[in-house]
Amino acid sequence: MPESTPIMIGSERSEVGLPAGIEILARGGSALDAVEAAMRLCEDNTADHYVGTGGLPNARGEVELDASLMIGSSRAFGAVAGLHGYPNPISVARAVLERLPQHSLLVGEGAATFAAECGFTTAELLTPDAEKLWRETLLEAGDESVEGENTAAQSGDLAYKRAALDLVKRMAPHDGPWGTINIIALDARGEMCVGVSTSGYPWKYPGRVGDSAIPGAGNYCDIRAGGAACTGRGELSMRAGTARRVVDLLGAGEDPAKACRAALADAGILPDEYRAELRVLALTPDGRHGGAATLPGATYAVMTAGDAQPAMLDRSVL
Ligand code: GLY
Repeated sequence: MPESTPIMIGSERSEVGLPAGIEILARGGSALDAVEAAMRLCEDNTADHYVGTGGLPNARGEVELDASLMIGSSRAFGAVAGLHGYPNPISVARAVLERLPQHSLLVGEGAATFAAECGFTTAELLTPDAEKLWRETLLEAGDESVEGENTAAQSGDLAYKRAALDLVKRMAPHDGPWGTINIIALDARGEMCVGVSTSGYPWKYPGRVGDSAIPGAGNYCDIRAGGAACTGRGELSMRAGTARRVVDLLGAGEDPAKACRAALADAGILPDEYRAELRVLALTPDGRHGGAATLPGATYAVMTAGDAQPAMLDRSVL
């Protein structure tokens, strides 16, 4: 692999972790180390309700986490899904990648058993803030009618919220919103790594796994073309194979922003009663990057060695 100028990009709210990651790359560290370190800080950010500690719970009020890592040169993939009680699923995903090469993805109880065997420590992930949101938004809120004009994505969100409310009413004890983080790094040796971490859809059906843990859907990396990752409605990117599609388009010579838009357009033709925002990011092995979203106003973070802080760039709109 040719020598490269290190760079990291990430989805909204990844800026919490990128400075730590770029410091690792600037010292000659690996893309894998940089992505893991950056993502851990995002997972530990309790103000972020879509990842790690403080993530919003499933319909039973339990926080279930999905995360994955993929390496560009080997396309090695490690992931966990439906993990309870471990605050840094990205590190458990790395342990799957490195210590359990006979497998790529562990779920639920098995993932927790493996995390315990590896010596990871448990923590309470449902913060008072997240629990309050779960109770107020779903248990105490009434249903919402679709008022005024909504985009297809907004109508899908409202339909999803109504379905989640029904589910919570069925599953939650009677006494008693979403987003994922993507981080992509290119290191000085020309290696790439894509990391994704999420608490998934708030109020999801227990056991629901999204695209963040699925190679080709929410995460894909191939050093010959680049890396891509998704946030938003994982059920769509799983059906469309969105991250893999972006990387294939990069491989065919497409510009990163155009590749992201084309992949979103492909997912956009699928029928989906719960259609909601889908966003995608891409980075090439020569450091070009881009992002796209289905609605305007979305951004992504970019940082290179020597930058004081990440720059926030607009995503291209489908
Ligand atoms: N994209 C995150 C999820 O669907 O869980």
